[in-house]
Amino acid sequence: MRIDIISVVPELLHSPFEASILKRAIEKGLVEVHFHNLREFATNKYKQIDDYQFGGGAGMVMMIEPIDKCITKLKSQRDYNEVIYMTPDGKTLTQGDANELSLKENIIILCGHYKGVDQRVRDQFITREISVGDYVLSGGELAAAIVCDAVIRLIPGVLGNETSALTDSFQDNLLAPPIYTRPADYKGWKVPEILTSGNTPKIDVWREEQAYKRTEERRPDLLED
Ligand code: ADE
Repeated sequence: MRIDIISVVPELLHSPFEASILKRAIEKGLVEVHFHNLREFATNKYKQIDDYQFGGGAGMVMMIEPIDKCITKLKSQRDYNEVIYMTPDGKTLTQGDANELSLKENIIILCGHYKGVDQRVRDQFITREISVGDYVLSGGELAAAIVCDAVIRLIPGVLGNETSALTDSFQDNLLAPPIYTRPADYKGWKVPEILTSGNTPKIDVWREEQAYKRTEERRPDLLED
């Protein structure tokens, strides 16, 4: 998979890809991530990429021309399955979206900044608009990093234990059950006995029950479908 991220502050995006699982995924050649500084596609001598809103109003708007130039250049080099725009008014990211995106070959992610992009960018280039939650970040970069993390860890071979993504919260519309590790007794705080019983079928039933209970308590909305 190849991900091209377009941003006015690509520096904000580097560190998530320089450690742990994402770094390993890149090193193993399972994903390529490329950053593009929108300012390099600015057309005037001030390297301007934003301008005032038509009709008045506070806040600058990202101009269409640099974005068009950047996306058109990328598209001339390969086919893209998706051009995603990170924006708080997009569809809230779900595990289902991450699963779907993990199957794509090439995607572009455009990070919004200031008030956002000229609507014509959205109309002409964007195939999917994603929000990471009902709050406003300073820009789309951290949101893009969240999408990349959620997607890349699902690419086959990225996680050491292939089954571990399948038992994540949300994969079956349930939150994950409680988990424990050694010691089985710490200061008298004991691990549920069933987990040390060795009775795998019973452990599976316990986990399922716990996952259901936790989901009912914390996220009853997930059980509605
Ligand atoms: N840009 C600013 N806030 C955002 C959010 N919540 N999700 C995606 N992109 C954003």
